[in-house]
Order: sequence, then structure tokens, then C-alpha cells
Amino acid sequence: MTLKESTVRLSEEQIRYYHQNGFLAIPAITTPEEVEHIREIYDRLFTEKTGRDKGYQFDLAGTDEDDKESVLPQMLRLTQFVPELKDTLFYANAFAVTRQLLGPDVQYWDDHAILKPARIGAETPWHQDQAYWSPQHDYNSVSIWMPLQEATMENGCMQFIPGPEQGILPHHTKDNDPRIHALVVDQIDTSRAVACPIPAGGATIHHCRTLHYTGPNTSDIPRRAYILGFGDPPKERAVPYDFPWNATKKLAAAERREAAAKKEQQNS
Ligand code: NI
Repeated sequence: MTLKESTVRLSEEQIRYYHQNGFLAIPAITTPEEVEHIREIYDRLFTEKTGRDKGYQFDLAGTDEDDKESVLPQMLRLTQFVPELKDTLFYANAFAVTRQLLGPDVQYWDDHAILKPARIGAETPWHQDQAYWSPQHDYNSVSIWMPLQEATMENGCMQFIPGPEQGILPHHTKDNDPRIHALVVDQIDTSRAVACPIPAGGATIHHCRTLHYTGPNTSDIPRRAYILGFGDPPKERAVPYDFPWNATKKLAAAERREAAAKKEQQNS
């Protein structure tokens, strides 16, 4: 990969705001031309359902059957399929901004995309990202969330509960249905929620334990978001967390992943 030269620098005030609130919104993290370019790649990957057979694509908020339209299609690791996504200005700026917020040791962590189809795109329930991850590790990371069109209240812009860093709160699976990927925090006071409508190619940045949410897409255009994750290397915990909400999952995407891995093993 070729890391471009970054063009975004956070002000002292923005850095202070992030540390006080656990999130930050910025009006531009790349150029309109690059948004256009990424959107073409993005639409192709979703139209072709790239990687679905290996568990890289699934319905985040539904039961994810092959013959059912997804209400919240998600794709993991787009860079695995299109490595040039790491050569983007978005990547360079996201990396630079994360270094400003978390320090010089941060590394690329992952990337994913969440698409809310026009009119039927479901909400992403209130959650903390770390609730999805390994209970054996501690994380210090951020997600840089970039919409590929304007993000509004109508199509599902990001919303956050501002506050200083906190521990991981109890979560449960959406509808208590183990086939559904999405987690929901058990208790939430949304009276202090801050919505962040931003232009195409803007970004919100949030810590892995900041509570966040996006509403359903009631508009006539798809809401496309592409997310890069950067952070410190995960640290192994002496005593693992207890995340009972992940123990009961029965995800079709996990089964597809395992079946694909088994097939690959047989072929090698
Ligand atoms: Ni999240």
C-alpha cells in the first residue's frame, strides 16, 4: 500500500472535545472525487454480495437468510477484496487523526461498511462497539465513520451519548433472537443524545466504548457508510470480561465462514 500524505489536522479544541465526549464530527475527511470513487467500489461489492459465501457480508439487523432481503447489509474487511482502499486519502486522514487522538502507536485495526437501503433500512440499535469483541482483551480504538452521501436524521446519521470514557455496559441480542447479529445496550437514557448530520465525505469519530446509534432510513436514497478502525494493539486481560450476550449467538454468517474454511482446508 502507499500511504498518502494527510490533509486533515485536528485543532486543540477538537481534540479536547473528543476526550471530553468520546466522539467528534468533522465536515471533511476526503475530497468529493474520492467519495465518488469509493461509492462505485462500495456499490459493486454490495451488488455482487462479495464475500457473503465466506461470512464477510450479512444482515446486521435481520435473520440473514439467503433468500431474504437484508434490512441492514453489512460487509467486513472491504480492504481484503479491494486493497486500494488503503491507498485512499480517507485512509491517510483517518490514520493521522487517530494518531492525534490516541498517540503514535496506533495501527490499522479493521474496516467495514453498513448500508441502509432506501425506505427499508433498519435502525442500528444503541450499543458500544467493544461489546461485540473478544472478552479476553482490552481495547483502545476509534472508528472513523464516513457517509458516502449526506448523512441526515432521515437517512440514519450517527447519534452519540456524550461523556467521559466508561466500562462496558450489559447488552443483549436484538429481539433476543440468537440469529441476529446486532446488540442492544440493556439500559439507556437517550435524553442527552447528540445527532451528527454531516456532508458526504465528512466523518464522525468515536471511541470503542462510546454509546452510539443510527436511526432507520426513511429517505428515498440508500445511506452508505464506510468505517475505518484504528487503535492500540489489543491487550490480553488477566481476567476476561463476561459477555454472556455473545455466548448464545447462532449466526448464519458464522456458519458460512466455517463451511468456507472447511472447504478450503479440504482443497489444500
Ligand atoms: Ni458501532
